[in-house]
Amino acid sequence: MNNDESNRRPLAWVTGASGLIGSHLVQSAESYAPEWEIRGLSRKDFDLTDFPETQRQFEQDNPGLVIHCAAMSDPTSCESEPDKARFINRESTFFLSGLAQDIPFVFFSTDLVFNGNHGQYTEQDEPSPLTVYARTKAEAEQLVLANPLHTVVRTSLTAGTSPSGSRGIDEQLINQWQKGNSPTLFTDEFRCPIHADATARAIWELVHARRTGIYHLAGGERMSRYEIGQAIARTQSGSECSVTPGSLQDYQGPPRAADTSLNCDKIQKVISFQIPSLAQSLAQREQQVA
Ligand SMILES: NC(=O)c1ccc[n+]([C@@H]2O[C@H](COP(=O)([O-])OP(=O)(O)OC[C@H]3O[C@@H](n4cnc5c(N)ncnc54)[C@H](OP(=O)(O)O)[C@@H]3O)[C@@H](O)[C@H]2O)c1
Repeated sequence: MNNDESNRRPLAWVTGASGLIGSHLVQSAESYAPEWEIRGLSRKDFDLTDFPETQRQFEQDNPGLVIHCAAMSDPTSCESEPDKARFINRESTFFLSGLAQDIPFVFFSTDLVFNGNHGQYTEQDEPSPLTVYARTKAEAEQLVLANPLHTVVRTSLTAGTSPSGSRGIDEQLINQWQKGNSPTLFTDEFRCPIHADATARAIWELVHARRTGIYHLAGGERMSRYEIGQAIARTQSGSECSVTPGSLQDYQGPPRAADTSLNCDKIQKVISFQIPSLAQSLAQREQQVA
């Protein structure tokens, strides 16, 4: 073995690297995971539903870690194309976790695996998905957890700058405001929104701690959709940003979970920092920019 080979860092795959969370994981690796060489994978590299190509790439790279962010993550698209959603979210996750059977594999799931009837869900609560998206994720979780080396992380609404400029909840609102809209946001639908900066840091710490099983990773404050909109509006000084209060009671459409706030005590005991609320993360970002 020559010197170059013996000094080579182990390779980590991050799928969905062109998405919101995947891109933050790749960007933050230099700070939080310098011992890994990162290959951020997007659909341009290969499509994860092309199993022979996925296997060929896996065997060629021989990664020592996979963080699997790629997904059909928009619940509305999943509702209209359920077979496609199932194939990407469930089947390709199962295939990839099989390739990664001997190494750590971190799968991103969602707070929406719960029906939202009570909120503050813990890892012990049984999933009760209401939608196609949530069902595909809940089923994939079970497949992943069959391997004791593997980890499921359920997260929530996420803010941050994404490569497409349209994936962060803050980006989506700002795009609406730029069009002159005042989006209607529910005052009675609750989540624990998190910034992708915090998500990425916590995931790298979880990987270092070699934790397996299920973890909840969400922001430090339970907020209504309307409160989330107001918090983001406050960061947009100088421009015309407003949100209109609405109620789930008046909503008609696919089922929505009213309160999928997550109890994150379990991961909080593993990581070195207090998971910030969305407002804290946005304020910290503003300070960095100023
Ligand atoms: N962001 C949230 O609010 C949130 C909340 C709860 C859970 N999650 C979960 O967290 C994970 C990351 O979320 P995110 O917001 O970063 O998602 P995202 O921005 O939608 O990114 C998903 C990525 O997956 C890629 N992808 C989709 N199908 C693919 C395929 N067949 N082959 C290869 N790549 C494929 C997409 O590529 P293209 O751009 O080419 O389509 C995109 O880069 C997802 O599993 C999501 O379900 C996210």
